[in-house]
Amino acid sequence: MAEIVAFSKEGRVGVITVNNPPVNALSQAVRAGIKAGIEKGIADADVSAMVIICEGRTFIAGADIREFGKPPMEPHLPDVCQFIEDSPKPVIAAIHGTALGGGLEIPLSCHFRIALSTAKVGLPEVKLGLLPGAGGTQRLPRVAGARSALEMITSGVPVAAARAKDMGILDEMVEGDLKAAALVFAQKVVDQKLPIRRVSQLKATVDSPTLFEDFAKANARKFRGFMAPFKCIEAVKAATELPFPEGMKKEREIFIELHDSNQSKAQRHVFFAEREVVRIPGLPDDHPTREIKSVGVLGAGTMGGGIAMCFANAGIPVKLLDMKQEFLDRGLAVIKKNYANTVAKGSLKQEVMDKRLSLIQPTLAYEDLKDADLVIEAVFEDMAVKKEVFTKLDAVCKPGAILASNTSYLNVDEIAAITRRPQDVMGMHFFSPANVMRLLENVRGAKTLPEVYATAMKVGKKIGKVPVLVGVCDGFVGNRMLAKRTRECGFMLEEGALPWQIDRVIYDFGFPMGPYQMGDMAGLDIGWRNRKAKFDSLTPREQKNNLLDKICEMGRYGQKTGSGFYKYDEKRNATPDPMIEELIINHSKEVGIARRTITDQEIIERAIYSMINEGAKILEERIAARPLDIDVVWLYGYGFPVYLGGPMFYADTVGLKKVYDAVLKYRDSVGAEYWTPSPLLEKLAKEGKGFYSK
Ligand code: 3HC
Ligand code: NAI
Repeated sequence: MAEIVAFSKEGRVGVITVNNPPVNALSQAVRAGIKAGIEKGIADADVSAMVIICEGRTFIAGADIREFGKPPMEPHLPDVCQFIEDSPKPVIAAIHGTALGGGLEIPLSCHFRIALSTAKVGLPEVKLGLLPGAGGTQRLPRVAGARSALEMITSGVPVAAARAKDMGILDEMVEGDLKAAALVFAQKVVDQKLPIRRVSQLKATVDSPTLFEDFAKANARKFRGFMAPFKCIEAVKAATELPFPEGMKKEREIFIELHDSNQSKAQRHVFFAEREVVRIPGLPDDHPTREIKSVGVLGAGTMGGGIAMCFANAGIPVKLLDMKQEFLDRGLAVIKKNYANTVAKGSLKQEVMDKRLSLIQPTLAYEDLKDADLVIEAVFEDMAVKKEVFTKLDAVCKPGAILASNTSYLNVDEIAAITRRPQDVMGMHFFSPANVMRLLENVRGAKTLPEVYATAMKVGKKIGKVPVLVGVCDGFVGNRMLAKRTRECGFMLEEGALPWQIDRVIYDFGFPMGPYQMGDMAGLDIGWRNRKAKFDSLTPREQKNNLLDKICEMGRYGQKTGSGFYKYDEKRNATPDPMIEELIINHSKEVGIARRTITDQEIIERAIYSMINEGAKILEERIAARPLDIDVVWLYGYGFPVYLGGPMFYADTVGLKKVYDAVLKYRDSVGAEYWTPSPLLEKLAKEGKGFYSK
């Protein structure tokens, strides 16, 4: 087996090569190996300069995130970095792939940095709720200036080599053989006796006296709720005000504070959850899948158009079918407008738009779908229509084609049963706008073959989605849990709350918007239609809780009609509407409920804990295999705050005993038909465990 860090000599250059697949993360062995390599180079009289370079697909991608939360092991990264910088012999970092986090802090401690033109460098720690903890906040402002450092460190977004060179991060950009170029560079340093440049001895430049306050203010909305970006600003400011050793001390203090915070734990959980979610429990990673080279999409409406774009964007040709030419024309016009907007913003080239459009072929004939490897149906949400469409698909599609429905609520097994190939049928539930939203709920039916849903997971990833495998039930994972929140909010309105109070609490909790703002934006008629379809299955209290009916009957469908729960001006700015307040107060009278003060805490408990309890039921029923599947659905589909890690992770942070006690409290006050604790929640709470610490 190759050494994790090897030391070799090429002429008078000591080459320290890191080989720790897959991404050369800085595990203890790598840190120790690099330090030992530098020691060897210093001690060897035949070595005049050293190069740090990596094997495999990338330079070091950062600290080993799997070591976080475990007892720290020597040598610590900041000490390794300092050891490199203190070397009396010049050290050169040779970068390819992505040098991220600690993987950039090592080069910043080297005396020279060269990179392939295809390389990227960045400090993404903020995305893990952290800040660079091995001198990144102190050294980057010293090479790139405080403003650029603030941008890179608070966004976590890597920059390409050319930009990094302009910023002063890189000394040279090279093509071709990186090792050969690094050896030439090292020889030049030796031959020309170039002075060793220690970044810690440079001064960080500040281009405005109010830079830090202005930066925090300008990004207030983007950073809302997150601790780390504000702490990053504090640390970069320290680099401009304090001597290097004191700045390092400050950075360390903040790093430890953030590392131990629930936010960072949540964000680290999200990092692994979004990678784990594509793995199907019980199936090997290399389980056979079917090849998807062409796709059919049925229905050129809101969802069908977006879904067609997703495949065209990935270079997969699409046949888009609708009932009439005018519906196809309308659908294609929307697709064109969407692409044109992206071109106008400068994020898409006209030729690329043209190529993508050419991949979407409109058709009125089912016959044209006969060769498709995958067909996704996005026609009206009506079982009779779905059955008619699947019968036709069954008749024309080739054997082995996967037939998927984008239904939001209908029973996928019932749809599958109308065909002669239920093993090839499943749900692929995209979220609106389908070309933008990352979540894809892949719904496995009772008879769907593993090969079929494994293919849907793979193709989902290919088109840039975060696919989550779920089972068949009303609303699947996301909408089923959302329905509980919607119901509780509706009850709270009749008990004493107002829409804007609930919206404020949910927004402050960290969601992008509250449920009533969201309803107004999506169109209240969608929920109204759904309510009417389900009316007979509702409880008497739910049937009488008819505020939505009353509002929609007035033609108030939300933003698109200028009013809904709120009223809107021409710029779609919302203001609370006294008329709605009156309507709600009268409604409470009509249903005989005495209004009372509803606290913000009660809103959080009833809106969020009702979803957690439902999430626990979803786990029990195996609709979702793991709590992380539920978390990913909520993070990517509904804007659950990343720094809380998703509803199930958040529940663990709150403590399941507390959640369970609240469920019992509302069972007694609201009613057992709404608040019966899930047996899983009850069991874990009583055992003092969490969803993740069973
Ligand atoms: N530590 C441990 N494991 C890591 C890792 C890290 N820093 N980075 C990636 N991995 C693992 C992934 O979990 C994944 O494992 P799996 O195959 O078992 O699921 C595997 O490496 C491959 O990762 P990706 O699937 O993400 O591969 P990509 O090629 O799509 O992306 C990457 C590669 C751009 C390097 C991406 O993995 C990435 O962004 N990694 C995180 C980088 C990061 O956040 N670094 C900062 C760490 S914090 C730090 O350095 C603190 C310091 O300041 C003190
Ligand atoms: P839509 O009304 O915008 O589009 C439906 C399209 O299907 C129309 O163009 C219509 O002409 C076409 N169509 C209807 N019957 C057809 C048939 N027999 N053959 C061919 N084409 C036919 O509807 P939308 O919103 O796109 O919804 C489609 C499906 O996606 C529904 O099942 C819905 O529940 C689901 N969905 C909708 C979401 C949303 O936010 N709109 C989100 C996720 C899923």
